Amino acid sequence: MIFTGANILSVKQLDRDAIGEIFAVADRMEPYAHRRKRTKVLEGAILGNLFFEPSTRTRVSFGCAFNLLGGMVRETVGLASSSLSKGESLFDTARVLSSYSDVIAMRHPDAGSVAEFAKGSRVPVINGGDGANEHPTQALLDLYTIEKELQGRGQGIDGMHIAMVGDLKHGRTVHSLAKLLRLYKNIRFTLVSPPELAMPDEVIAILDDAGHQVVVTDRLEGSLSQADICYLTRIQEERFPSLEDARQYRGRFRLNQSIYTQHCKSNTVIMHPLPRDSRAEANELDNDLNENPSLAIFRQADNGVLIRMALFALTLGVDHLLEKYDAPV
Ligand code: CP
Repeated sequence: MIFTGANILSVKQLDRDAIGEIFAVADRMEPYAHRRKRTKVLEGAILGNLFFEPSTRTRVSFGCAFNLLGGMVRETVGLASSSLSKGESLFDTARVLSSYSDVIAMRHPDAGSVAEFAKGSRVPVINGGDGANEHPTQALLDLYTIEKELQGRGQGIDGMHIAMVGDLKHGRTVHSLAKLLRLYKNIRFTLVSPPELAMPDEVIAILDDAGHQVVVTDRLEGSLSQADICYLTRIQEERFPSLEDARQYRGRFRLNQSIYTQHCKSNTVIMHPLPRDSRAEANELDNDLNENPSLAIFRQADNGVLIRMALFALTLGVDHLLEKYDAPV
C-alpha cells in the first residue's frame, strides 16, 4: 500500500504487509512517545482534529501524537459548534477545512460520513470512528496490543482464540478488529452477545470466508475457558432508539476477578476499547481486575499514541525522515 497522501477510512484497505509497515513505524515511535527523544519532523504542519461525537482517548491521542511529531493541532469538537448544524454539507466542510490543515482526523455519528467527507478533502483523512461502522485506528492499536501481549508468551496471532463480548451489533471497534483479523490464519472467534446485539452477518461472513472458526453464543460462562484474548465492549447506548431500549441489556455480561479466576485461563488477556461503563448497573469490566497483570486496557490506550504517530508519519510521507529531525530533549 502507498501510504503517502492516502486516506485511512477502513481496515478493508489494509493487507498484512501494510499492517507490518505501520507496526514497524509504531515501534520506532516508542522513544518519542515516552519523551526519551524529541523530533520536529512535522514542525509547521497542522492537524485538523474534528470530533463530532464524544471522545476521550481517540481525540486526545490523535492530538498528542501530532504534537509529539512537532506539529500543531486545531480542534473542532461537537456538531453544534460547526456549520454542519446550519445544513452545510460534509463535502463543503471538507473542501474548506482541508485548506487549513495538512491532515484531518475525524469522528462523526453517521456510518459512511468520514468517507463522504474525504471526497471533498484535499488532504489525507483518518477515520476516528463513523457511527457503528468502523474505527480503523482502534483496530490497529488493538491488533498491535494483541501482538505484543501474545509475543510475551511465545505465541502469535495466527491460531489464537479470541472471545468478543457485549454489544457486537453496534460496537464499531469489534467490527473493525474482526475484519482486520480476517487477514490472519486459523483464528477461533467466540462471539458472546444477547441475540439482538449479535455481530452483523456481513462481518461473520467475512470471517467464514477467511476460513476462521466462529461460534456465536449468548452465554459467557463456559465460553472463555480456551480464550487467549477476552475483548469486552460496553452497551453502545447512543446507537439505540431510546435509553430504555439500551438499558435492558446493561449488566448482562460482566467480567470481574472471581469470574476470571473461575472461567478463564490463568493468563487470558483482558481487553476493552474503553470507555468501560463503570456505573453499578452496567459495570461490564470490574475495577477489581485493575491489578490483574493480564488486564491490557491501559496498554491498549498507550499504544494508541504509537499507532496514530505512525499513521501521521506514513500518510504525510515523513516516516523515513523521523530521526533526521531529532531535537534536543
Ligand atoms: N476507544 C475509544 O474510541 O475511546 P473514545 O471514545 O474515548 O475516543
